[in-house]
Amino acid sequence: MPTKISASKSSELRAEREALVSKGSAAYTSVVIAKALNAKVWDVDGKEYIDFAGGIGALNVGHCHPAVAAALREQAGKLLHTCFHVAAYPGYTEVCRELIGVAPIAGRKKAVLLNSGAEAVENAVKFARAFTRRKGIIAFDNAFHGRTLLCLTLNGKYKPLRQGFGPCPPEVYRSRFPYPYRPPHGVKPEHLTEYCLQELDRLFQTDIAPEDTAAMILEPVQGEGGFVVPSAGFVKALRERCDKHGILLIIDEVQTGFGRTGELFAIEREGVSPDLLVTAKSLGAGMPISAVVGKAEIMDAALPGAVGGTYGGNPMSCAAALAVFKIFREEKLVLAAQRIGRLVEKRFDAFLDRFPFVGDSRGVGAMRAIELVADKKTKAPLPAARVKEILHACEDGGLILIKAGAHDNVLRTLMPLTIPEEDLNRGLDILQGALESFRL
Ligand SMILES: Cc1ncc(COP(=O)(O)O)c(C=O)c1O
Repeated sequence: MPTKISASKSSELRAEREALVSKGSAAYTSVVIAKALNAKVWDVDGKEYIDFAGGIGALNVGHCHPAVAAALREQAGKLLHTCFHVAAYPGYTEVCRELIGVAPIAGRKKAVLLNSGAEAVENAVKFARAFTRRKGIIAFDNAFHGRTLLCLTLNGKYKPLRQGFGPCPPEVYRSRFPYPYRPPHGVKPEHLTEYCLQELDRLFQTDIAPEDTAAMILEPVQGEGGFVVPSAGFVKALRERCDKHGILLIIDEVQTGFGRTGELFAIEREGVSPDLLVTAKSLGAGMPISAVVGKAEIMDAALPGAVGGTYGGNPMSCAAALAVFKIFREEKLVLAAQRIGRLVEKRFDAFLDRFPFVGDSRGVGAMRAIELVADKKTKAPLPAARVKEILHACEDGGLILIKAGAHDNVLRTLMPLTIPEEDLNRGLDILQGALESFRL
């Protein structure tokens, strides 16, 4: 139990944060962390939490996995930095070899390593434009691709992401993403895919011709948008339209990748092969690294020096990533995601049956969510302030859980795939307790 003195340590640090850190940096919880291991974290006052956020999906191998920590210790004594443009080192090319080996892309592939998801998305767009010599990029509503200027133009959420930051880069067009729980008025669920494809075809008529379109970019399951699984056949139909018009398909697996959905990459379940795949987050187990993997001819379309940067794929991050690949194989984490997913799905489906304010239970593999509503019939979103009450109750009970969605009313699971079943159940029990004590 936290003592009175140690409790003030957290509040002291929160006050420091308030005074020293830009308000633009979000504070999803009030937890101030001292240390972490696997699926547990401890705050500066010694209070223990189960972590269902995993650094927003960056810790599928868990906090401080011993193999990652050992790889980093060893690397730190050997080589910290050269900049890959100046002098190559084996870790970089080994990570590229691993990524090329697992990326579900047909034909000969190449890769490039960067620092963050947003940076990788930016570079995927650059490759697509350089290869096709076209400018148009189609993104989807409710999407999230990052916080750089181009990425926030790709994002399908205006506030708080884009507001005040314009003008945004041109030649980005938005089409509708099928959101089965919230179809457009009058559209039946069985017609949702067809409706969204018609919207795309309309966009080709009204805003950008297919022959001027370089790429479409989408998340195979929307992450920040609220764990939205597109309706059946949508992604395959996009691939067909891309093939027909010479448009490239960029799949953003920054949040879905590395096992989250019960496949190494979520696009595998669609049976679709992208032209470019973007990955980050859990590739590095907490170290900053991201990648674009793609067809070799597309990846070679950029001129030397046009992509990369000082730190992209730095030796420490590569050491962590190589450990991640090994851990995934040895600990069979893709299967673990399927097991976790089944368990969470059962509990979430029970929440849907039981609580009047749980409107939807959805997801794929261990990427699961419940959407909270004020009224199940109208599906009016539960106001964000009320959602916060539930999240605070979770935090009080010792669970770190975060929200998502256009209305900030979706609770999502991004726990490490290494989480022991006992911790998983404990976390779910804490959430259940928070839902039980909530009154509409
Ligand atoms: C699907 C997706 N793409 C891109 C990003 C941006 O990644 P980063 O925050 O590393 O720039 C995120 C981050 O949450 C994401 O979920």
